[in-house]
This record gives sequence, C-alpha cells and structure tokens, in this order.
Amino acid sequence: MNNSPMSRWDYWSDVLASSTTNERALTHGAPVMMITTFVNRSIDLRWHFYWICLVALLGVAVFGDDSCPTPEELAPCTCDGEGLNCMGARTLEEIKKAFNAKFKYGGVRSVWVQGTPLTHLPADIFGNVKSQQFYVEVNNITTIDANAFSASKKTLHTLSLFGNKIKDFPYSGLSIYENLGTLNLGRNLIETIPDNAFNNRNLYAIILAQNKISHIGMNAFSNLPNLGRLEMALNQLVTLGPMSLAFKSHSSSLQVYLSPLVI
Ligand SMILES: *[C@@H]1O[C@H](CO)[C@@H](O)[C@H](O)[C@H]1NC(C)=O
Repeated sequence: MNNSPMSRWDYWSDVLASSTTNERALTHGAPVMMITTFVNRSIDLRWHFYWICLVALLGVAVFGDDSCPTPEELAPCTCDGEGLNCMGARTLEEIKKAFNAKFKYGGVRSVWVQGTPLTHLPADIFGNVKSQQFYVEVNNITTIDANAFSASKKTLHTLSLFGNKIKDFPYSGLSIYENLGTLNLGRNLIETIPDNAFNNRNLYAIILAQNKISHIGMNAFSNLPNLGRLEMALNQLVTLGPMSLAFKSHSSSLQVYLSPLVI
C-alpha cells in the first residue's frame, strides 16, 4: 500500500465493506461463531480506529500538516489539512502555479476557488492535483473545459460551480467523473439542457436552480440511475417537452423541485 490519502481511504472502505459482508452473512442465518467473531472484530476495529486518530492528532500537533507544499510555492493560494484555497488569486497563472507545486500525497481533500475574476477554466488549470471536492464558486466563469478536473477522474465527488456566468456547460464531458455524486450549477446563465445531457452512474444530486432554463431536452436526466434530488426552482420553464423529465430508473426517493418556476 502506498502512502497517498486515496489509498488510506481505500483501506477504510475495505474495512467497511468487509464488515458489511459479515453483516450480510448474519442476516442469512450464519452460525453463532460468526456473530461473536464479528462483534469482537468490530470492537478491535474500534480501538484500532481510536489509536489511529490519536496518533494522527499527535502527528499533526508535532509535525504540522505535511500534505501541503510550502506557502511560497502556493501564494496567493493557501493550504491546510482541509484543502487548497485560491480565494486570493487574481489570475489564471497564479492558480496554475499553485497547482503545479509538489503535493506529497498527489492531492488535497478539497479545492476552493471563490470570488476570483476568472472567466475561463482551461483543461490544465488544476494540473495533476487530485481532489474529492471542487468549489469553484462566485467567479465570472463563462466557459469550462470538462477536462479541468481530469486528474480527479476517480476521486471527484462534489463539483460546485455555483454563482458563475455559465451558459454552455460541457455536459457530455462530465461523464468521465464516475464517482461524481453532487453537481451544483445553481445561479448561472444556463438556458437549455440538451437531450441526453447527463450520464453519470453515481450522480445523486443536481442543482440547476436560479438559471434561465426554458428548455429541457429529451431524456436529459434518464441516464442517472442514482438520481435522488433534482433542483430546478427559479428558472424560466413554462412547458416541458416530451421525455424532458423521463427517468428510466432512479433512487427510490427521487425528489424534483420545480417551484417557484420563474424568478
Ligand atoms: C465579475 O464581473 C463584474 C462585471 O464585469 C464585476 O463587477 C465583478 O466584480 C466581477 N466579479 C469578480 C469576482 O471579479
């Protein structure tokens, strides 16, 4: 096992997955032996977990957080155990420079690029830095290359582009992010959602509220087997076309928010 945060996460998901397997065995009438092993094992795991937390806390207290490059390499962006914040950046070059620094584990948990004058997200803006969450919010972004987050193809879980000036969004390019769970495109300038717009197996929440949407293409949300929340309030929808809100299969608790319809 190498030392990156992703593989540590893999380790914990393995631990969790193996306890669910035992649980499944339990519900299928496994022998009592199995139950005691399982209980003992979860107690062991719990202590194990406390120890890891304690050691991690001491580590951070004594050595500081070593996942970040030096402040000089990142300025005007800043970094801590939570992630990388480029709120102070004024140019694309400043952001590119920060993301070209050497990150010990190849990534950070979250990235914030908020309130900058950026108007475009090119493919190479975030370099090879992996992250689970990108909050690129309240800038003046009009165009986005869907490959901007491609180093995070496997890890990207939350993408928020809230409060920009996006009119044309690269819908089909988004399908490379196979673990994307939440997409926030709220308060932008989107007018149309194209046919077959989204194809993301794990996408659970899409926020499209506060745009200028007046047209939703056919089967726009059909290829989202795990969709549970679709927010479209405060748009300019007057009529829905055929198959606009067609769903093949979706989460059993799908909620669609359409009102108020118009600003
Ligand atoms: C975005 O553009 C507007 C109008 O040009 C400007 O007033 C505003 O300050 C810009 N926003 C940022 C975050 O730079």
